[in-house]
Amino acid sequence: MLNTLAPLPLVFPLHKFCLYPFAFMEENENQTHIAVIGCGYVGLTTAASLADLGHSVIGVEISPERLESLGHGKVPFFEPDLEELVNSGLKRNNLVFTSDLKSAVSQAQFIFVCVPTPSQDDGSADLSVVRSVSEAMSGSLVSRSIVILKSTVPVGTCAQVEEWIGRADVEIASNPEFLQAGRAVAAFKSPDRIIIGANTLDAREKVAELYAKISAPIVCTDSHSAELIKYASNAYLASRITFVNNIAELCERTGGEAATVLRGLGLDKRIGEAFLQPGPGWGGSCFPKDTRALISVATEAGSDITLLNAVLESNETRFAQIAAVISQSLNGDQERKVAMLGLTFKAGTDDLRESPSLKIASLLLESGVKIVGYDPHVTTAPLEGLEIVESVEEAIKNSDVLVVLTEWEGFADLDPSKLLELMKGKSIVDTRCVLDRQNFIEAGFSVWQTGQGWGKSV
Ligand SMILES: NC(=O)c1ccc[n+]([C@@H]2O[C@H](COP(=O)([O-])OP(=O)(O)OC[C@H]3O[C@@H](n4cnc5c(N)ncnc54)[C@H](O)[C@@H]3O)[C@@H](O)[C@H]2O)c1
Repeated sequence: MLNTLAPLPLVFPLHKFCLYPFAFMEENENQTHIAVIGCGYVGLTTAASLADLGHSVIGVEISPERLESLGHGKVPFFEPDLEELVNSGLKRNNLVFTSDLKSAVSQAQFIFVCVPTPSQDDGSADLSVVRSVSEAMSGSLVSRSIVILKSTVPVGTCAQVEEWIGRADVEIASNPEFLQAGRAVAAFKSPDRIIIGANTLDAREKVAELYAKISAPIVCTDSHSAELIKYASNAYLASRITFVNNIAELCERTGGEAATVLRGLGLDKRIGEAFLQPGPGWGGSCFPKDTRALISVATEAGSDITLLNAVLESNETRFAQIAAVISQSLNGDQERKVAMLGLTFKAGTDDLRESPSLKIASLLLESGVKIVGYDPHVTTAPLEGLEIVESVEEAIKNSDVLVVLTEWEGFADLDPSKLLELMKGKSIVDTRCVLDRQNFIEAGFSVWQTGQGWGKSV
């Protein structure tokens, strides 16, 4: 039996940024009161999903634009199903948003910290926002409340936050987030596992109880181990993709069939078939920064981290390899036009952070190549010199080379006859292997695909 706190009275001040006054929230004796600090990809998914589980949730957001948008039920970024979930919470009155951190935490039994932890120049995680919210909320926290770090943080951060908060009557826990952009809501409802790290059994049980309606293995441990599980997971996945890309590149050079090689590899149960798709290199808001941060932590601890340094370096090499393939298809004429399809770091998200497409585009732009890009969720140019258009047709019109960089739905349906009509050239670089190679070759195109190169047709 979990020893949960008694529900707190719902007497909330009407703050100027509280777009839905807390007083409108329906009183429900059994509801747990939760504050979620930071309403970005992780925080908003967490807040809306916890409200969906029946908890009473206050999302705290510092950006006035984001707050205003959320108050109107508009999610300020793209994540499938999230807007519906936010609106259900707003309608049920068990999800509200505010900018008032102190007021929000003073009513909460659990406080999820979901603020950014970006890379610093030396690769280590910048914990300044975690520190500032910890210090700012310290005096307002309710006795016996639990502060839960969902932000991705280096090992030892929970202990550090305990010092920053400086309250013996408040517990700190780690509950790392494994959000998968593009299926964040689905993954929250049905996660592979839930990791809870806290230094007392009582705190672990209380945090676990928040997820009681979710069916998933729960790993309860100390906060150091929980923090390390998160970094280890991302660094492992990044390493796995790098290995797969190394094998794909070897196939490109030697004429091996990467798809078959990787299938043969994945059928070994010790290896498994998931996450064995080669591509243009990995990116996004997590893998690069978390791999760099783990290297920083390990270096500081004196651990051997040679492997991860090589993984980072090899991933950069992959971007350069793809840029070289595209350059090669221009036959030395940099004035030619490249149509780039897909700019986000993968399909299903509008997140451009450390996107491989942008890394590759930067390398090409530096050498004077003209690029016209299309992405269903990008409307403004993320790079100087990169022209953004509103449709696939506009991008490929008069282009010399077509490059597919993410696997957005619809790209696989590109029709060779349409391309023949619109394109000037006949070269295709398909880094996600979404196109039917044989169809395009039969229509007269030269096709380069990850893991096959320009190679043979089947
Ligand atoms: N995005 C992912 O796929 C993902 C996955 C797992 C873990 N994480 C981790 O979760 C954390 C958040 O990542 P994210 O992608 O949601 O970031 P984000 O940039 O999308 O969201 C962060 C939000 O916090 C707000 N914020 C910043 N300072 C604040 C403050 N002082 N008070 C209140 N709000 C504040 C920002 O305005 C923003 O809305 C990071 O540590 C990240 O590494 C992210």
